Amino acid sequence: MLVLGIETSCDETGAGVVKDGNEVLSDTVASSLEFHKRYGGVVPEIATRYHLEVIDYVVKDSLKSAGVTLKDIGLVAVTQGPGLVGALLVGISFAKSLGYSLGIPVVGVNHLWAHIYSGLIGRPKAKFPLMGLVVSGGHTSLVLCEGIGKFKLLGQTRDDAIGEAFDKVAKILGLGYPGGPAIEKAALRGDPEAVRLTPPYMGDDSYDFSFSGMKTAVLYHVKGRKLTAGMKADVAASFQKAAVAAVVEKAVSACASKGIGSLIVGGGVSANKLLREELTRAGAKNGIEVIFPPVRLSLDNGAMIASTGYLLYKKGKRSGLALTAEPNLGI
Ligand code: KG4
Ligand code: ZN
Repeated sequence: MLVLGIETSCDETGAGVVKDGNEVLSDTVASSLEFHKRYGGVVPEIATRYHLEVIDYVVKDSLKSAGVTLKDIGLVAVTQGPGLVGALLVGISFAKSLGYSLGIPVVGVNHLWAHIYSGLIGRPKAKFPLMGLVVSGGHTSLVLCEGIGKFKLLGQTRDDAIGEAFDKVAKILGLGYPGGPAIEKAALRGDPEAVRLTPPYMGDDSYDFSFSGMKTAVLYHVKGRKLTAGMKADVAASFQKAAVAAVVEKAVSACASKGIGSLIVGGGVSANKLLREELTRAGAKNGIEVIFPPVRLSLDNGAMIASTGYLLYKKGKRSGLALTAEPNLGI
């Protein structure tokens, strides 16, 4: 079955065609990032208007790149939440109109589930239970995946999401938006031991995260100083190291204590090279297979929505015309 997946939860308009949940035939992404830069973060109205302007071109491009037409599509999957309500509604309205006019089913998809299952694309034989780690601009969550659509939340951030902390630290350092890639680039020239940043102790049995303290520590560290490029690089490297260490430690100890041998990592921050290296290293040391989707599928995209939509469809899920945005949808 060919599934068209549509993603419009934040600033990326994504559409992808995926065959049987497993083979990505196309993955088109247009981003309104450039228009948000001068505001230092995503402006919901700008994101929504952009989705409206480009969604039909993005969908057409994804069909063309896949070498198919709308007649070949058997299912439309669309991000239902979490995300910006106006932005989500553009994708959902488009998906429902397509489904209705083509007479094919539509499935609403949880964006966080899609970030986790994106690691399963091309691995149809992966066995549950698996540990899922979502590290994105809006979420930092550790979840036990017991099957398709079966999740147990073990821990999450109590304040800023990890990506949000990267973005805010980059803003403090004047490195621009989005902060994740900017911090990663600046950190290449910095000393990760220059500034001591430690995540707060959350309790022995807790898998929760906290990043706002580290961000505030950065703010106090730079306050009143004239920031040189070298200092920025040192702070970026120190913050990146501390933030990565915090998630690596929790993810590995969750796998060990629950007896889980595979960890899937998804969300925008999983594009980070140090995070990939450190998790892979810690996984190898502790006998845990660490699975990352290709970097392109780590960031917001329509293919992951198509693939997760297919898995849910196979489990019997159908969303009627009453499908609507759920901005605060949890795992
Ligand atoms: O998953 P995503 O594209 O959107 C959400 O669902 O939130 O994640 C976006 C987040 C942003 O905070 C961005 O700064 C971060 O992912 N990010 C990175 C990197 N690339 C994107 N963080 C660290 N290193 C990166 N290379
Ligand atoms: Zn995302």
